[in-house]
Amino acid sequence: MTLWGGRFDASMDETLWNLSESYSFDRALYRHDIIGSKAHIEGLHKSGLLTGSELGVLTEALDTVAGEFANGTFERRSSDEDIHMAIERRVTEIAGSVGGKLHTGRSRNDQVATTLRLFTRDALTDAAETVLALVQSLRDLADNHPASYLPGYTHLQRAQPVLLSHHLQAHCFALLRDIDRAMDARHRLLISPLGAGAVAGSSLPLDPHYTATQLGFRRAFANSMDATSDRDFVAEALFVFAMMGVHFSRLGEELVLWTTSEFGFASLDDRFTTGSSMLPQKKNSDVAELARGKTGRLVGNLTGLLTMLKGLPLAYNRDLQEDKEPLFDSLRTVTLVGRALAAAYGSLTIHSDTMARAADDELLVAIDIAEELVANGHPFREAHETVGSLVGQAVREGVTLESLVREHPTLKQYAGLFAPGESLARRRSPGASGPSAYRVQGYQLAGDVDAAERRVRGE
Ligand code: ARG
Repeated sequence: MTLWGGRFDASMDETLWNLSESYSFDRALYRHDIIGSKAHIEGLHKSGLLTGSELGVLTEALDTVAGEFANGTFERRSSDEDIHMAIERRVTEIAGSVGGKLHTGRSRNDQVATTLRLFTRDALTDAAETVLALVQSLRDLADNHPASYLPGYTHLQRAQPVLLSHHLQAHCFALLRDIDRAMDARHRLLISPLGAGAVAGSSLPLDPHYTATQLGFRRAFANSMDATSDRDFVAEALFVFAMMGVHFSRLGEELVLWTTSEFGFASLDDRFTTGSSMLPQKKNSDVAELARGKTGRLVGNLTGLLTMLKGLPLAYNRDLQEDKEPLFDSLRTVTLVGRALAAAYGSLTIHSDTMARAADDELLVAIDIAEELVANGHPFREAHETVGSLVGQAVREGVTLESLVREHPTLKQYAGLFAPGESLARRRSPGASGPSAYRVQGYQLAGDVDAAERRVRGE
């Protein structure tokens, strides 16, 4: 018998039960559901709907149930449809008839919305902390290789030299935006739906503002229909997780490239690679490939949720139960991938010589010659043309650009630009990839990380 069985003559068909039950996955919400219930009964007490001793009995029963879940002794009954029903059923077993007062003035519709907001608040915090750890790992790698440099690529073609630390910090700034978005979403979801009931509130003297404060929300809902049917906060969290996944995936793709024999820029520690069941020589960068591959489900979870939401009339519809599994899966995925990537970067060996050889490709000096011409008063387009035709000649004749510059009547004064590392040192405009600009960027990043840490901690 379910807790709502009063109206029904026949029990649910097994096929519907299997479709409908959500305990198998929403038991993950037990802690947040109990936090919500405790605030609810405190509100009932404040409104005179529970005596002090009834409040005490219910609080103790809820604590007992929380303990049973925590130590793995909670036993599901076959009639427990979801986590909310399971907890209420068990509270009533423990507390006796006063257990029947737990659900006073409440529906599972405002209950589940409250529980899920509490869960999502913590999920966003956890994901942000995972990303912060990854940022730290990237910064450590940068700090350990202050002088390493490699080509910056556009179109995956060598373009200009960049410090390795500049390159790694580019990823850090993207990841910090993810943290910022997570914290924006966390702030926005702090509206309590508790007291909205099934759809239209209650005739009982509830105080949603009091329970909102108890739960650490910013305020209570303004509209009971919006409160019970709004899952924008789940969509936002799934977007935040998908965006993190996109950044993880780009890091993963880059690691795959860097660890190929063709690039040879880095090696992963054996602990982060796998061999081949057939080919003895293989060392595969699986951690990076999985970081890339797992992102598909993060994007899929967001797409699935938005598709589920788009056709729903106001207010609560059972479809909304489908909000949970994607949320749980995305949180789990982001945590798994983020932690593995942070550890993998911690294990990375950088091959600075190979990077430098690629970045000292003499053709990358072409822009420096053109910019020297500009500094000496030539229009940029003219300088571009002059150097471009020299590059063309070098490629056609199979000679070096440097040799042509050295023999050139007006350009030979710029031959010093071909010295290894020279082009990098000249990238000094604000935000540029050379050492002097990098110092400023490093301070900026340190300040941003500090601000992100404080925000995640709720300061
Ligand atoms: N398990 C349900 C969910 O996750 C709880 C709400 C059920 N409400 C209802 N009227 N059947 O959405």
